[in-house]
Parts: sequence; C-alpha cells; structure tokens
Amino acid sequence: MPLVHLADIVNHAHRHNYAVGAFGVANQDFLEGVMQAAEDSRAPVVLNLIASHFSSHDFDLFVPSVVAVARRAAVPVAINFDHGTSLASAVHAIAAGCNAVMVDTSMLPFSENLRQTRDIVAMAHACGITVEGEMGYVPGVEGESAEEHPGELAYTSAVEAKAFVERTGVDCLAVSVGTVHGRMKGTPKLDYNRLDKIREAVDVPLVIHGGTGLSDEQFRRLISHGIAKINYYTGLADVAGRRIRENAAANTGDSYSTLMTGVREAVSEETERCIRIWGSGGRAAEVLAQCRPWQEVEHIVLYKTANETSDIEIASIMREGKAAMLAIPGVRNIRIGQALQPDGKYHYCWSVTLSSQSAIEVFQNHAAQQSFARKVFLSVATEWIALDFADIQPPTASFTAAPVKLAARG
Ligand code: 13P
Repeated sequence: MPLVHLADIVNHAHRHNYAVGAFGVANQDFLEGVMQAAEDSRAPVVLNLIASHFSSHDFDLFVPSVVAVARRAAVPVAINFDHGTSLASAVHAIAAGCNAVMVDTSMLPFSENLRQTRDIVAMAHACGITVEGEMGYVPGVEGESAEEHPGELAYTSAVEAKAFVERTGVDCLAVSVGTVHGRMKGTPKLDYNRLDKIREAVDVPLVIHGGTGLSDEQFRRLISHGIAKINYYTGLADVAGRRIRENAAANTGDSYSTLMTGVREAVSEETERCIRIWGSGGRAAEVLAQCRPWQEVEHIVLYKTANETSDIEIASIMREGKAAMLAIPGVRNIRIGQALQPDGKYHYCWSVTLSSQSAIEVFQNHAAQQSFARKVFLSVATEWIALDFADIQPPTASFTAAPVKLAARG
C-alpha cells in the first residue's frame, strides 16, 4: 500500500528541514537491503532506478519486484527512474511501473535542457508522475571512480534555476554545487553561498546528486541550506563489494551464496547510517499521513460483436489496437480477452492498466486510441459497457502497520 507520490515525500522533507534518501537499487540485494533499513528506521524512502544500471539488467523484469516491495512496505515509498536519456525513456519507465522520473538533459545548452525538460513535464504530469529536472552539470558515473570520468562540473546559476523551474514546471530540482557522481579521492568543496541563492530563487525542493563521499558535516550543512533529497549509490555498491571481497578472502567456499553472504545486510547498514545523518528516520507515520496513495487505474470494456465476425478476425483487430495503444504515455498493460462463457451477454473484453487516474484522460484523448475506437472498434462492436476503477483503499490505520521483515538469505 505505501507506494505514494514522490512529490508528497519530498515536499514533507522540504518543509521540515531534513532530506529523504533516494538510494540506487541495482538489483534485488540492494532493493531488500535499502527497504530493510527504511523499515527498521521508520523512514520514507525513494527507490532509485538509475538508467545506466539497466544496460546489464532487464529493467522491465526488475521493476515489478520494486513495485511489489514498495506496495507491501509499512513506510512511504516512491519509485524514481533516474538519469533517463529521453522523453521515450521516461514513457517507458512510467509504463514499467515508476511513479517519478528524472530525465537528465543537464549537459545540453540551457535552452535545449529547458525545452526537453518541459516536454517531459507535460507528458509526465498528465499521467500524475512527479518530475525532477537538473540545472548545471554533476559529472561522474555512479558506482565508478570519479577520476575515470572527469567531465567538466558546471555549477547551477540561481538566475537560470529560477527561469528553469518557472518555465518547465518541475517538482524538484537537482543542483550542482560541487558534488560528483561516483567514488572520489578526498572530499569535494561545496558552494553553500550558491545553494542559498538558488534556495531564495526557487520554491521547489532541491536535490543533491553524487551523495557518496560527502562527510557527515557536509550532509548536515547541505540540509540546513535547503537540500531535501539526496541521491546515493556508490557508497552502497562499495560496502557490497567490500563484503564480497572479505567473503572471498575468508576462503570458506566459492559458491554464489557464500560469496554473497551479508551483502544485503551491509547495504542495509550503510543505508541506515545515511538515514540517521539525513534526519529522515522516525518520520514515516507523519509523512504517510499527508501522502496521497499511489493508485493505478483499470479501464475495462466488455463488448459483443455481430455474429458474422469470427474470433480470429477479432483477435487480429484487437492485437493491432493493443500494439498501437501500448505506446500511449501512462499505459502500463493491455489485456485483450475472450469470455469463457460463450452464452454470456458480452463475448470479449479490453482491460487497460493506467499509471494513475489522470492518465485516463491522456488515454481517452490520444490519437491512437481515438482512431482505434472510431475506425475499428465501432465497426465491429455492437454493444459494450465500459468502467474505470481503482482498488478500494484499506483504512488509513494500515499506514501505521508494524515494520515488514524481509526474508533472510537462505
Ligand atoms: P553516487 O553514486 O555518487 O552516490 O551518486 C548517486 C546519484 O547521484 C544517482 O543519481
């Protein structure tokens, strides 16, 4: 149940002067380790799916696990697609199950970053999805040594940040004030004066990328200067890697499970350490009380056709419609069904899963659905009924349920 809108989580942190962690979950061990820490600390959390990780893992197979973990959590959780590369990548992430997106066009000239981010905001907001934009450029690559990716850091300008937020409508803004992605030697120098100016210029929550390598004191100062969300991954990857190395050095066996022993716990401990410093621990209940639950919507159509239209014809027509409509932003799944009771009133059905209630309008108004409905559906369907529904919500008491314990590795 506590899959909630990311904007609600981050706005709470923004108003109450702490930062929520957006922890990179590259696979099941990270996912379960991070969630265990969030549950144990009673902390709201963002599960961050960093686009570059999915060149080696299947994103579409992994996201359903992330959604399942979020839905059974007792603490508020949002699922963010991080560092997408295009509008199409954001549409794909929303279809897969993410309820927040960050498409990183910050390396482009200001006007182009603004234009592309504005298009993403228009698409995503219509589907009820939170959007983070980035102004200025944070170099480096998550999980790798910053020295290997020495791109030019570009600081965020307060004047441009104001124009960017006003003209794109982003819900939160990633700023560049001296951090880099990945592992670095020494600690970065941070520009708190610049951060103050940005905070005065814009009224959306501010985000730090490249949380790894900052000292406790730097985290605290960043938060006191207005940071409400911190992205963190390399620090988790490094404790996991260290644990695997120690397991190998202990020489107790070469099996996968022996080498992976304790990895999830190490990720969990590091996540808990961050949660403690960033002040999000113990906040779950108060955050949940002001969060809107995330609700997918089902759009169902039951219909019958004239007797002369064969099942094979219907299947082919509907498959074509399904392929066209799966590309509509906010559409997560489409099932085309045939009744198991041939004598019933309706013989076939459509069931379309949409990301949220707002996506119904996007779906209904989209050219692909309108053209299919008018030109194809109405030519074969003789009678139908349609219904949009969402799950009946459990009483809010379940929002304060006991922490969920995740299964230990066998
Ligand atoms: P680190 O890997 O440096 O912690 O940065 C993570 C990040 O910013 C993801 O967007």
